[in-house]
Amino acid sequence: MNEKIRKDFPLLERQDNGKKIIYFDNAATSLKPLSVIKAVNEYNSTGTANIHRGVHKLSEETSILYEKAHDKTAEFFGAKKEEFVFTKNATEAINSVMYSLLTSDFFTKGDKILLSEMEHHANLVPWQLLEKKGLAELEFVKLNEDFTLNMQDFEEKLDSKTKLVALTHASNTIATINPIKEIGKMAKDNNSLFLVDGAQSAPHMEINFPKLNADFFAFAGHKMLGPSGTGGLIAKKELLEKFNPFLFGGSMIHSVKLHESTWNKIPWKFEAGTPNISGMIGLGKAVEYLKEIGMDKIRDHEKELTRYALEKVAEIASIKVYNPKNEEKQVGILLFEAKGIEAHDLAITLDEFSNIAVRSGMHCAEPLVSSLNPKGLDRASFYLYNTKEEIDEFAQALKTITKSFL
Ligand code: ALA
Repeated sequence: MNEKIRKDFPLLERQDNGKKIIYFDNAATSLKPLSVIKAVNEYNSTGTANIHRGVHKLSEETSILYEKAHDKTAEFFGAKKEEFVFTKNATEAINSVMYSLLTSDFFTKGDKILLSEMEHHANLVPWQLLEKKGLAELEFVKLNEDFTLNMQDFEEKLDSKTKLVALTHASNTIATINPIKEIGKMAKDNNSLFLVDGAQSAPHMEINFPKLNADFFAFAGHKMLGPSGTGGLIAKKELLEKFNPFLFGGSMIHSVKLHESTWNKIPWKFEAGTPNISGMIGLGKAVEYLKEIGMDKIRDHEKELTRYALEKVAEIASIKVYNPKNEEKQVGILLFEAKGIEAHDLAITLDEFSNIAVRSGMHCAEPLVSSLNPKGLDRASFYLYNTKEEIDEFAQALKTITKSFL
């Protein structure tokens, strides 16, 4: 990765108190390249219109741009047009599956949903509703000592009662990449539906939906260079046909009478109301940008950064890392603590004195993070525009701060 890429991200030019910013909070949201910013600005300045509603040229032009973004993003994930639904983020995508299964009476008392101990709240809290309603019991696959998924435990817990397996592809905290294809095959052989939370994998590695052996794949566009309020759900065609929609209203209907309605064809059956039009057009530009660089190249760059960062922090005795510590088994996230310093204090100090942005706290994965440190942890997360020089500065800042707190 080179200087040319960094020039595409205006935020990287920001300086505070004479120090350039080091953005290591990519797992929360990514920066946006100029092509995405321009597309959003164009919609808001000279291209504003609603889609699929007007016959005037502004509406027609905008509908074409929106549908092109739809097609491009579906293609990016190797998905068919009718399998691909825009949502506002991964959370909405997972919630839409949960509500669709709920209102379609998919679960009956005694069923099980198999999750893991490393899930983000977005792939935990929605399923708790089903447990509260007495429709399904939640079970959690344990982790190994090195923070990988315990596959033996997975096999033991997957049984005839398991109607759904819902698992993250890559953890937003410990960074572990799970063996999704293998798990998908096992879920299929067990007749369980399989949902993959791809929020932390889609931005960082090539995803080909048919090859995942998954029924549902949720992702967040804003973590992969797209605008905030963008994301999507990819689902097998027959499931989108079969299950009830999540949101009801305009656009998702075919015909409406006072007491009943019929639904639009998929994927539009799952896109009710005016969407985030400019955001999705921007997301189309984001996937174009990622495709041009190449997902394999991005993954290789991040593996190199991860290896380098793990080496650098290993030199600092007071830093403890909670990751597999192997770039092949994890994405570019470092979850860590500094002995004797509270997570938020360290993050504030890194921000104020070194202009380095990291996240601190529970990271929307409280059951796991609080079990590692009840006061929370710090997280540095990398992306295609980050460099080894930035990691050097980060390691140096950690050394200075940890010494001064002693
Ligand atoms: N899911 C985002 C994170 O991990 C917000 O920070």
